Parts: sequence; C-alpha cells; structure tokens
Amino acid sequence: QQSCSLIPEAWRFDCYPERGVVVTRELCEARNCCFIPASAPFSSATRPSGRNGIPWCFYPLDFPSYSLVSINDTSLGQKGTLVRDVKTYYPADILTLEVEIRHETDTRLRVRITDPSNSRFEVPISVPTTTKKAESPYYIVELSKQPFGLIVKRSSTGAVLLNTTVAPLFYADQFLQLSTSLQSQFIYGLGEHRSTFLHDVHWNTLTMWARDVPPTEQTNLYGAHPFYLAMEDGGNAHGFFLLNSNAMDVILQPAPALTWRTIGGILDFYVFLGPDPSSVIEQYVEVIGYPAMPIYWALGYHLCRWGYNTSDSTWEIVKSMRNYKIPQDVQWNDIDYMDRFLDFTFDSTQFATLPDLVKDLHAHDQRYVMILDPGISSTQPEGSYWPYDEGLRRDSHLFLQVWPGLTAYPDFSDNATHEWWYENLRRFHEKVPFDGLWIDMNEPSNFLDGSTNGCPSNSLENPPYTPGVLGGLLRAKTVCATAQQKQSIHYNMHSLYGLMEAKASTRIDRPFVISRSTFPSQGMYSGHWLGDNRSQWKDLYTSIAGMLTFNLLGIPLVGADICGFSEEPQEELCVRWTQLGAFYPFTRNHNAIDMKPQDPTAFSPLARTAMKQALLLRYSLFPVLYTLFYHAHVHGHTVARPLMFEFPKDVRTYGIDKQFLWGKSLLVTPVLDPGVDYVEGYFPEGLWYDYYTVRPGVSVHSKGEELPLHAPLDKINLHLREGSVTPTQVPNLTLWVSSGQPLHLVSALSDDGSASGDLYWDDGESIDSYETNQYSYIIFNVAQVLTLN
Ligand code: GLC
Repeated sequence: QQSCSLIPEAWRFDCYPERGVVVTRELCEARNCCFIPASAPFSSATRPSGRNGIPWCFYPLDFPSYSLVSINDTSLGQKGTLVRDVKTYYPADILTLEVEIRHETDTRLRVRITDPSNSRFEVPISVPTTTKKAESPYYIVELSKQPFGLIVKRSSTGAVLLNTTVAPLFYADQFLQLSTSLQSQFIYGLGEHRSTFLHDVHWNTLTMWARDVPPTEQTNLYGAHPFYLAMEDGGNAHGFFLLNSNAMDVILQPAPALTWRTIGGILDFYVFLGPDPSSVIEQYVEVIGYPAMPIYWALGYHLCRWGYNTSDSTWEIVKSMRNYKIPQDVQWNDIDYMDRFLDFTFDSTQFATLPDLVKDLHAHDQRYVMILDPGISSTQPEGSYWPYDEGLRRDSHLFLQVWPGLTAYPDFSDNATHEWWYENLRRFHEKVPFDGLWIDMNEPSNFLDGSTNGCPSNSLENPPYTPGVLGGLLRAKTVCATAQQKQSIHYNMHSLYGLMEAKASTRIDRPFVISRSTFPSQGMYSGHWLGDNRSQWKDLYTSIAGMLTFNLLGIPLVGADICGFSEEPQEELCVRWTQLGAFYPFTRNHNAIDMKPQDPTAFSPLARTAMKQALLLRYSLFPVLYTLFYHAHVHGHTVARPLMFEFPKDVRTYGIDKQFLWGKSLLVTPVLDPGVDYVEGYFPEGLWYDYYTVRPGVSVHSKGEELPLHAPLDKINLHLREGSVTPTQVPNLTLWVSSGQPLHLVSALSDDGSASGDLYWDDGESIDSYETNQYSYIIFNVAQVLTLN
C-alpha cells in the first residue's frame, strides 16, 4: 500500500471501471489493486455517467501484464510474441499474443496485436497495404520486454508520442485495454461527442457506440470515431487511430494519459507523425479513404423540416423563397411524404403533387432530397409492399420497431442487400425523380430495446464489462447484440451500420448522401449532419466544435440543423445561426414537427434580408468552397479548419472553437450571443483584411490579439489573411445559375505585395471528374512589380 500512495493521483489508472458498483477496499483488493479514496469528490460508485473522478481503485506498478518473450525482424518491421502468466479478473484472457510492428511509411506506423491461435473480428474497411518498409521514418519504436510496452518517439525531437508501459495491457476476449501517456493536454477528435473542440483531460470518459439521442455532453452519440490528434511542444502534432468498432470507452486523465478500453475485436492501431496538424489529417485520411467530391449543389442552401404535411405546403415554401429571391438549391422532405412511414412509398393524397413539385424544382435548377430510414415495415399484407416481400425473398433481416411499427432492418453487411436497396431506389426514382438521399435512424435506432421477443441472455448481451453507453445496455434503443449479420454479430457490427448503409446508397451519378450515423471512411460515401440539436444559443456555439471535429475525421461535408431542430428559435438566434450556417460546409435549415416555421420567409423583413445576405455571401464564395472540397478529396485537407491548423506554433489558437477558417485564409467570426452588436475575435499574428472592404488602410496588423469587431444583426465578420487570393462569383438564386456569372479574384496582399490562391473547376456533377482529368486547376500569383512614374 505504501507504493500505492507513491502513484500521483493524475497517474492512477482505473482498476474498477464498472459502473453502479460501490467500490470497497475488499472488492478492490480482490483484484490485487491499490485502494485509496481520493481527495476528489467522486468515487467510481457515484460518478455521473461518463465523467469519473480520480479512481479509488487503481493498478499498482507491479500489476501483472504481458511480457515480450521473442521478437524477430520482418520485411516491414518486427513481429514478437507476448505472454501473460497471471490471468486478469476478466474471463477468457488470451494468454499468448502476437504483436506486429509495421513501418508502413515515413509518417505512418501501424501496430497489430492479435491472437495467433484464433482469428478475431476485424473491422471490414479497406486500408492501404504496404510491402516496403519505410526508409527514413519520423519515428523510433522502442520495446519494453517485462512488462511489455511500446514506446514511440519522434526522431527529430525525441518527444514520446506513445508509451504503453504506463498501465497493464489487457487482452481478454471481451476486455481489451491499452493505456498511453500523452504529450500534452491538447487532444482533439474522438467523435462523436458534444463537447468543446479541445477535449478536457480531467477524468473525462468518452464512450463510443452509435446511438440515437439528441446531442448531450458525456454521452455516446450517433457515430464512432476512435481517432485523436494531439499537439506536442513546439507546434508539432501526431495522430492515433484505433481501428476497432466495438463498444468502447476512451478515458482521458490529467497525467495527461489516455486509455482505450474496448470489448471486442483486436488492437490494430496507427500512429501518424504529421508533423503539423494538417499533415496528420492527410495521413489519417489516406488510411481511411478520401472524402468524395460533392456534387456542386450539395454546397448550396438546403431547406427542410419535419411536418410540411403536404407536398403543396412544401411547394409553397419553395415559391415563397423564390419570391423573396433568397438562394435555395435544394428542398427536402422528412418522413411526412411517405405513405404510413413506409420507405419507397409516398402518400398519394397529402403528397399527390410530389412528382410535380420535383419536376418544378428541376425546371428551376433546384434539387430534391428525401429521407429514408433503414427500417422496412414487416407488417403489411403479403403482396402489398414490395420492399419487404422482395427483401424477405432475398435475404435475412433483423427485427425492430421504428416509425412504421414492426420492421425488418436490412443487413447492409451483405452485398445482396445492396442490390435489393438499389433496386428499391431505382423503382422509387421512376415515380419521384429525387436527386439525393438523407439516411437517418441508422445507428440503427429502435423504439424498443433489442426486439419484441427480448434478447438472449448471454455474454454478448451482458458482457463482463459494459462501456458507459447510454441506457447501460448495448441493446438500449437498438438491436440485440447477438443479432447475426452476414459479416459478423451485431455486437461487432453495430457502429458500422451507417457506414454500410451509406455505401449501399451511393450508386447514383455523383452521389449526394447525408447520414446520421458515421464511422471512419464514411466521408467516401456521405456527409453528416450533427443530429437533433435545439434552438438555443448554446447549440449554435457547440455546432462549431462539431463541424471542426468532423473535418478532422475525414467527413468535411458537415453542418448542424440551422436555427435548431427541436424548440423554436427567437428571430435573432435564427439570423445569427443562418450567418454561421452559411459557413457550414453543409448548410441546411431543419426543424422538428409541431414547431413554428423557421425558414427565412417566416421572419420579419429585417431578419429575412439579413438571412438572404448571408446566403448570397455563401453563394458568392462558392468557387473557394468548391476548391477546398477538391483539396479535401485529393489531399485529405480540412474544409472548415481550426485556427490551430494554420498557426500550430501559437498556443493561443489551441482552444479556439468560436472562430474558424475556410481553408488557409478566410477567417469567420460569428456572433454566438444574444443582444450584442460586437464580437471578440482572435487574430493570429499577421496582417488581416476586412473581407468587405479589402483595402490596405482597413487591414489589422495583429501581434496575436483579441480584437472587438462591429457586428450588427445583418453582418457576419469575415477576414482575409495576408497573402491570399480568393476566387468569388456574382451570386444568384441557385449555384447552377450562379456558375454562369462573372468570377472575381480578391487579393489580400502581404506586406511585400505578394499573394497567391487557386481555383478548381469542373462541370460540378460528373463522377470522377478529377480522376478522369475533366477539370481545370488554376493557380494565381500576385507579385509586386516596380513601376517608374
Ligand atoms: C430523427 C432525425 C430528424 C428527423 C426525425 C423525423 O429525429 O434526426 O432529423 O426530422 O427523425 O424523421
């Protein structure tokens, strides 16, 4: 016990993470762990879900772990054997493991810890294969033998990026745990959660397990993204990706240190060496897959709501938008359009004019998108509902209850299901020529826990350890963990459902798909919206962190419901939200059923005009936005970008999530509070120009300062960084019409009179325009030429 008290509180790794247990000395010592009630108010027993205090029960330094008993060189690195002599307190320890270290590229290290005698579940996404060992890696790998540990250092600075010797390694069938020290407290990513952009490392548990729930702090949400970006001293950055889809907890503690605790699969992870934050994301995206190039109109303004009730009332809004000359590219419908919530049908009375509405949209260069939920009704009379009858004929399903009552959930891990899904889309498209898809409820969400018949009682449903999932059970608001899918059990496949559905939904031209549930590599198939937010100022603010995080996760086409989904926004909030939303890469106003209309036409002339201005501004910036998406697609760059990506040496940018950039140079400083006509913004060192004036006299020469900016209700502050050339266009009511308008270049010169920028341009809709060389790419350079007068 004396050696126990020598372990500083910040370095105590939780030996008793089970929730809802009062951890006593007896229970703790039965696990051979240290028991010291900590000075902090929380014990494991009283911790509010997700946020634990300092563990009272923690591993002693000599807690048994694995030893490295042999190691050999391989063509890519090394391969070794790990052995554990003493079992842990979880069932089914895998006592002999294989560790393989692959020096895949100079900036990418991969480590796989597997069971050499039994194959275990591995995430079915394709990652690059390497055949040649990296020649001059940015990293050095050191191995500790007893206990086994892996230490990864940056060659240039010696900084320790990973050190797994800080806590014992666990590798039981349903409990795998790996801890590491962190270089700093500056850690980002780890979606999907509602939080600040910069994570709090003070005993913060982030649980991952796809879940349908309005975004709430400390709760697992719609998607799972086991990736983090971390900063090092001096502005270097690295990334870490655990390729694992099982339910897991990620624990951040102030040492700083991080623990991955997952209940299945294998430990297969990557370290990305950057060395700057943008390069880390490029390297991550190279592994998971580059985001798709969006069809041009994806970047226009989208209008949606739940509760339009009829196609005519939907049409009215579209007409009213046209009438007020407010830009709109896309009109959406929620589940209202369906006949009794049945997918691939439309209500032939209330939505009788839907096909005409869609035709009218097309005639105005506008587009139509509708929702699809994965649950297929299983209770229609035989022969009356083709999707179910045909699905039954073709393959197996999972049973649940959602909107249309009892449903079968298509198993998208089966390719046969993709054919069936596509066939349904094709048949529906003949009736309603929709242009894109909104795929919702794909966590998958279930109004029941498990199924109508309950779930079996076994170790999948009640694992020895359950991460901090909302509801306390894996099946909470979803399918039984035991449900069998083609590729594996739902226990392993759950958080991949949205990814696989998105993949099945991308067979039309240059596809447009927006998905609620996401997993790494999703960006290749869809964008994402941040789910069921509320019409509150706080939600306006948190949407920035959400948007930035998804840009780090390789899903740049992201935005929150503008003006908030549930509740009713004050006019002022909706104006400010439309201004910020005009700078979401994906811009959609969406509203819940029974709420007052919140589209721009629903407000006073003053508000309406301010919203219109914000949208016209976005449309005028389409050339730069489209070019940024090209860089995302081809290089893995972020579109909406945190300031720290451009100024990694300026620590004051590390926590900024009230401002952001588009690309390198366009700084957005929205108003996030009610009743103000100014906003404070941080300006990293350099010369910044007010976007609206761009004249030398009105530039700000910042030394790295917070500055107050005038922000009346009809203005969103935008600044251009010195040295940039920004292509813009004269905006119009749709992007299609705008694209025939004149282009302009806005040059923000550096002190020395230089600037540069670029423009990517293609037809906006063909598939693989870049890949097949059907595009223009133009680089602009401005240099000062001395003239004699
Ligand atoms: C879910 C979606 C929401 C949609 C509603 C009805 O709550 O997240 O956007 O409006 O279902 O389909």
